Amino acid sequence: MSILDFADEDALGCVQSVDTTTVIVRVDDVERLRALQVNRLVALRSSLAGHKLIGVIHKITRTAIEESKRADVEQGEEAHPELNLVRITLIGTLLDKDGARSNVFRRTLETVPEIDAHCFAMEGEHLTRFMGVISEVTGGAQRLSLGTYTLDPNAEAYINGNRLFQRHALVVGSTGSGKSWTTARLLEQVAELDSANAIVFDMHGEYASMQGDGFVHLRVAGPGDIDARKTLADGVLHLPYWLMSYEALVSMFVDRSDQNAPNQAMVMSRAIIDAKTRFLTAGNHNEILANFTIDSPVPFAISDVLTELDRLNSEMVEGARAGTEKQGEFHSKLSRLIQRLSGKQTDRRLGFLYPAAGVADDYAWLDQAVTLLLGGRSAKGGRGGVKIIDFSEVPSDILPLIVGMVARLAFLVQQWSAQGTRHPVALFCDEAHLYIPQDANSGAAENAIATFERIAKEGRKYGVGLVVISQRPAEVNRTVVSQCNNLIAMRLTNGDDQNVVRRLLPDSLGGFGDLLPILDTGEALVVGDAILLPTRIRIAKPVNEPLSGTIDFWDRWADGSAAAALEKAVESWRRQTLIK
Ligand SMILES: Nc1ncnc2c1ncn2[C@@H]1O[C@H](COP(=O)(O)OP(=O)(O)OP(=O)(O)O)[C@@H](O)[C@H]1O
Ligand SMILES: [Mg+2]
Repeated sequence: MSILDFADEDALGCVQSVDTTTVIVRVDDVERLRALQVNRLVALRSSLAGHKLIGVIHKITRTAIEESKRADVEQGEEAHPELNLVRITLIGTLLDKDGARSNVFRRTLETVPEIDAHCFAMEGEHLTRFMGVISEVTGGAQRLSLGTYTLDPNAEAYINGNRLFQRHALVVGSTGSGKSWTTARLLEQVAELDSANAIVFDMHGEYASMQGDGFVHLRVAGPGDIDARKTLADGVLHLPYWLMSYEALVSMFVDRSDQNAPNQAMVMSRAIIDAKTRFLTAGNHNEILANFTIDSPVPFAISDVLTELDRLNSEMVEGARAGTEKQGEFHSKLSRLIQRLSGKQTDRRLGFLYPAAGVADDYAWLDQAVTLLLGGRSAKGGRGGVKIIDFSEVPSDILPLIVGMVARLAFLVQQWSAQGTRHPVALFCDEAHLYIPQDANSGAAENAIATFERIAKEGRKYGVGLVVISQRPAEVNRTVVSQCNNLIAMRLTNGDDQNVVRRLLPDSLGGFGDLLPILDTGEALVVGDAILLPTRIRIAKPVNEPLSGTIDFWDRWADGSAAAALEKAVESWRRQTLIK
């Protein structure tokens, strides 16, 4: 049975003119006209039985007809002193039956309505049922609900949880529009699932409030954690240098403007291979020894590399004449590299790269870290499905480096999993413009961008989904943005950012972009694979609100006893560790 069974007498009016995608409907009943609103949905009878055309109202006009023309109109069956027209953009077809499936919505228009066909406003039950069809909601009892439709506050807005994560999602909106709350709402529902698997890059520690056994809270090791020798068991994550790709190591340690840069990169690659060989030999990992490459995640001692570089940098070889000595091939050519390598090692902010001896330098550490990060809620050794990594104490210039490393780790593990054994994982990238920028300003940013572009393009095949969250979509890498097939757009006031979002809307619906600046806080325009029609949704509040940190300036200023802990702040800044 059709979900849209309208009775003729409920019709708004009849089709008066038709072109490819636009239909004009004449509405004689002024009461009905008044109830209509732009952007509401309508259904039209199609010339094919079992098909209904679905459209969006674009324009409503009410015109009094001039005396002189009224005569023409009055020749019709009914006389009306007005000509009320509703302009509708057709957006798709609802098929009562499509093969074995019933009630299928398609974004295609195989037919157009006939002149005089009836047009119906979609409201109440009809709307709810239709929305259920377009999001093709699956998952039985555990459906993904965003909130309610603005069109109809009684209808719950579900979206398709498979499609949302399969082909990446973009959550955008000006500051304070409700992105973090929306994210929290999604995370909460993800965390409930028995085998949930997601990683959240939390830039401001906002999601620390998310509670329940579906969540694990981690932070990247800061100077204080390193002094205290904190480990994974304490929720502290190191990202040892030996996990970095060769490319990333070179971009970090070799100064590209140095004339010796190619030599330095080459020497470094040899020294790293040697150091990895030494590690593998010592541990009797013979099978790996035979096949590993410079990019294999095998620990090595950075001190071995430094020693070798030092040796080459001061090496003297036998001269042409017996008994004489001359400078070796790399003599004094590696000084800058050595300086940078040892300089970075003493940079306390980079401490997470250089875990203390015994913390993240053994063979088993990677297995533990991967299990914790990617195991999923039900995995043995896993602790919760949604892993929230707090980056709030990480200085902004090294952020792309770290986030990129975690993302790369996730992607590579998925890539090296056999088909059929992959457990899908979603990466929630809050404040993505900070580490997936459109304009790379450092080697680290370039590396992060490359990683995320790769995930955006190939992630679907390996079960890695991105949720890119940003207040400045225009500043997020364009390749990544353009691969996002789901859009949750909240209020957006900046013109450049609006244009980015408009480009993601289907052509026939470009007009929906006009809503962007006037959306309410917590209200979103949602469109994409997960919900086939752009829909305005009022996102429901999450159970645990994120710590958005909105400070009431006026009230605080008015409060006679308010005081700030400035000394602590200065001391924290000095120590590069937040003193609580
Ligand atoms: N769905 C909602 N319902 C009601 N209020 C909301 C909703 N979403 C957000 N708000 C209000 O708006 C405030 C800001 O929301 P949120 O922190 O999610 O913004 P944001 O878009 O993440 O901003 P920023 O880009 O600065 O991080 C919240 O503190 C809350 O008061
Ligand atoms: Mg936010």
